[in-house]
Amino acid sequence: MVFFTVFLMLIGLETTTATASLPLGVCYGRHADNLPPADEVVNLYKTNGIGRMRIYDPDQAILQALRGSNIELVIGVRNEEIQSIANNVSSAADWVQNNILKYSKDVKFRYIAVGNEVDPNMDEASKFVLLAMQNIYATLTSSNLQNQIKVSTAIELNLLGMSYPPSLGSFGPSSIPFITPIVKFLVDTKAPLLANVYTYFSYISDSTDIDLPFALFTSQSVKIRDGSFEYQNLFDATFGAIYVALGKVGGANLEIVLSESGWPSDGGVAATVENAETYYENLIKHVAKGTPARPNQPIETYLFSMFDENKKGPTEIERHFGLFSPNKQIKYQISQLRKSSTSGSSSSYMWREEVMLSFCFSLLFLNYI
Ligand SMILES: *[C@@H]1O[C@H](CO)[C@@H](O)[C@H](O)[C@H]1NC(C)=O
Repeated sequence: MVFFTVFLMLIGLETTTATASLPLGVCYGRHADNLPPADEVVNLYKTNGIGRMRIYDPDQAILQALRGSNIELVIGVRNEEIQSIANNVSSAADWVQNNILKYSKDVKFRYIAVGNEVDPNMDEASKFVLLAMQNIYATLTSSNLQNQIKVSTAIELNLLGMSYPPSLGSFGPSSIPFITPIVKFLVDTKAPLLANVYTYFSYISDSTDIDLPFALFTSQSVKIRDGSFEYQNLFDATFGAIYVALGKVGGANLEIVLSESGWPSDGGVAATVENAETYYENLIKHVAKGTPARPNQPIETYLFSMFDENKKGPTEIERHFGLFSPNKQIKYQISQLRKSSTSGSSSSYMWREEVMLSFCFSLLFLNYI
């Protein structure tokens, strides 16, 4: 009888898992002087069913507002802090103490992103990223949080030297010494690599070879045949190239988290509300299915960005990536967002799953004794 109950519970769990969509993440950038206060922003995430957030620095007001929210958080170490955290173990320990341990009882940290788009060709900080990651990891380990909170870094697509055709994807010669030891660290610690990927910028830099439907997931036919893979959109082709490039530096099975992706609504070529709405809508549907190189492997995704940011630059385009205007009005009709907000927040789903899981294990345990 107990056996039968356990069986039913497991079936129930399977069904719940299969039908629930991935919790959606949205980046909360703050290069603006007109954004709502942190607690209102956290409420906006909740009312729209956005279950994950990425922030770029350990802003104490946001961390405070996130307490008890169940929103899962990617928190950044600012590029400017990387060198001191790398060179000084107590500064790493202080960072973790003040920004993680102080909140870890009621804020759900998911990843610490040590740096954002650190460029090995330009940034002095690139020499220190790995060491800073190691120091933060060591501090987390001494609090036994290293399996719960993963340490990574967010790369930009420019690190690829070659991306077409995808099967020839590789990191550029100057990126290889930077990324190779980082990939080894991620493999060793079972952490994903974070990648910021904008098909928008690929499209505007080469709109003769790339057409708009290919960038917006609306192409009706296969555009690239590459070995056994057929690509109908630029996103899949880009991920194909990233996976091949990772394979060449020891990360053939490394998970990629899409830590930023978006489309601007104004300020440049093809930057319209209509195109942006199409992109976000299709991206959200698409990442749930995975890509040809890794089918049925959903990609954890953080849309860029929550708000239009009026202090970003240098180009006008950078100021129009928000899903919301600073007055909290949503700019797009994204059905995936509405769907998740009407069917309850994804975080409550996560909670149910955890409770069911522990219930199953208790039943199994009872049965065993
Ligand atoms: C290392 O970091 C600690 C804590 O932030 C600081 O007090 C100390 O002065 C730093 N040491 C050096 C050599 O920079």
